[in-house]
Amino acid sequence: MKKLTAKQLREMWINFYTDRGHAFIPSASLVPENDPSVLFTTAGMHPLVPYLLGEKHPSGKRLVDIQKCVRTGDIDDVGDDYHCTFFEMLGNWSLGDYFKEQKIAWSYEFLTSPKYLNINKDELAVTVFAGDENTPRDTESYEAWKNCGLKDSQIFFLGKEHNWWILASNVGPCGPDSEMFIDTGKPKCCDSCSPACSCGKYIEIGNDVFMQYIKHSDGTLVQNPQKNVDTGFGFDRLLYISNGLSSVYDSELFSPIIKKIEEISKHEYKENKEITRNMRIIADHIRASVFMISDGVVPLNVQQGYVLRRLLRRAMNSARNLDFAGERLTELVKVIVDIYKDFYPELEKNRLEIEKQISLENEKFSKTLSQGIREFEKVAQYSKQGVLNGKTAFRLYDTFGFPLELTKELASERGLTVDEKGYDEAFKNHQEKSKANNDKVFKGGLADTSEQTTRLHTAVHLLQAGLRKIVSSDIHQKGSNITSERLRFDFNCDHKLTDEEKQKVEDFVNDAINRNIPVVCQEMTLEQARAIGALGIFDNKYGDKVKVYIIDDVSKEICGGPHAKNTGELGHFKIVKEESSSAGVRRIKAIIENK
Ligand code: ALA
Repeated sequence: MKKLTAKQLREMWINFYTDRGHAFIPSASLVPENDPSVLFTTAGMHPLVPYLLGEKHPSGKRLVDIQKCVRTGDIDDVGDDYHCTFFEMLGNWSLGDYFKEQKIAWSYEFLTSPKYLNINKDELAVTVFAGDENTPRDTESYEAWKNCGLKDSQIFFLGKEHNWWILASNVGPCGPDSEMFIDTGKPKCCDSCSPACSCGKYIEIGNDVFMQYIKHSDGTLVQNPQKNVDTGFGFDRLLYISNGLSSVYDSELFSPIIKKIEEISKHEYKENKEITRNMRIIADHIRASVFMISDGVVPLNVQQGYVLRRLLRRAMNSARNLDFAGERLTELVKVIVDIYKDFYPELEKNRLEIEKQISLENEKFSKTLSQGIREFEKVAQYSKQGVLNGKTAFRLYDTFGFPLELTKELASERGLTVDEKGYDEAFKNHQEKSKANNDKVFKGGLADTSEQTTRLHTAVHLLQAGLRKIVSSDIHQKGSNITSERLRFDFNCDHKLTDEEKQKVEDFVNDAINRNIPVVCQEMTLEQARAIGALGIFDNKYGDKVKVYIIDDVSKEICGGPHAKNTGELGHFKIVKEESSSAGVRRIKAIIENK
């Protein structure tokens, strides 16, 4: 396998697919727009869901990208050789263009050609979908791998638990996949040893998903009229494997961070297992935090902000374990920005803000920590049978800002476990009492193309236009989040809207609805969109070509869609709440009542 630098690997991926007619599109934000079903972008396909469901993409039917992702499901495993919370996914896409045979031939070429990764073909193993009572065996993918020259002993048929891809929300575009592995040459662990086995013989490097179905929220599975390909290769993983390293943390994306932690802590990375683990936790969590803050997340007790707070506080806890002050974690920001700034120039632009947020959070945490630790010691003494009760663990969270994970870590250092069920119950009770439903991740989202969701999406455009016309022409969107029941729209504004302003904005939107105006989609370059006065963010967020949704003289906005065809489809628009979201940002919740 070829040894590559991070820069070479990025370029190799992008060039391979642009040479084959794909348009490069920039990474979407880590915080999904218009989608309350997840907190973070967890896979390359996520921001592309509307296009996998048939919306036209302005850059065409063949796309290539490198998407920033966050997954925190395995956060407790961070510290081993390869788990990370932040990662980049190398992706390429066919939106109703080529399908299995072509895709597998290209994957094979990329993996084995001396011009590209140059993996010995005998070291490859692949899996394909075995079929079940509802969906047929994927013989097409099997044939495609055979045509590449793979032997039967290298191709494994596996069931839905291994070879089927769908978003965690379990709705939307989905289908069988074919995963690619390196066979390390280790002996089989048992007769049935396969890539599904975690014995370490096989290491996964990539996944081709064939999104030929759509799963609806009522559980039905239908054919997707558009046959798509969604490919995902883990960038960190490919890099460390191609360089023959034993851990993702040894690659050039992490070693400067680890070196800096060694310098600050005066410990050596390989001193002992615990030191290694703590350094990896810091490196991973601060890297993820840098990217999150750069995409606008700030530490809070809810939603994305809670995840960020948890990562930062875990890193601060590891800093304590390595005998240095959490404040010094800010020194890692520059190191991380330097590693990534060529590909993500926004990091350099946001560097000071990132340092500021980490420093502020450290101050907050230090204050509560010393109080909380004293409290913890007190309750730990009285914990019966080695178990810290759930209510106490919740109080530590609620009063002292201790994430449950931190309490668990402190408890395990003292040989105690935490009654997590009790904690969950106390958490739930608290939520119900305070009606703080904010933590909830809602149904709906990009994979939900129900008519109501689509209408609400159009209502957001009308609302933004109304606010700009009636309240201030400086207003622009700070965030949007749509469920099938309501829209939520955040915008910059220095005052609470008056009743009169709210009424006028409502009237403006309802007037546009009553005029039955067609909603027209036009494709153009970013420059043209700017020239016609379309709203949008004119940085490198979009590709070269964009879609602009035009509602006559009322609204022009860059947007992926989908939208209602005519404003008349919307129903009666009503603002149900207007409140502060954060400093200088107001939030409106609104519904549309069917006519
Ligand atoms: N969506 C696929 C994955 O994340 C490529 O593995």
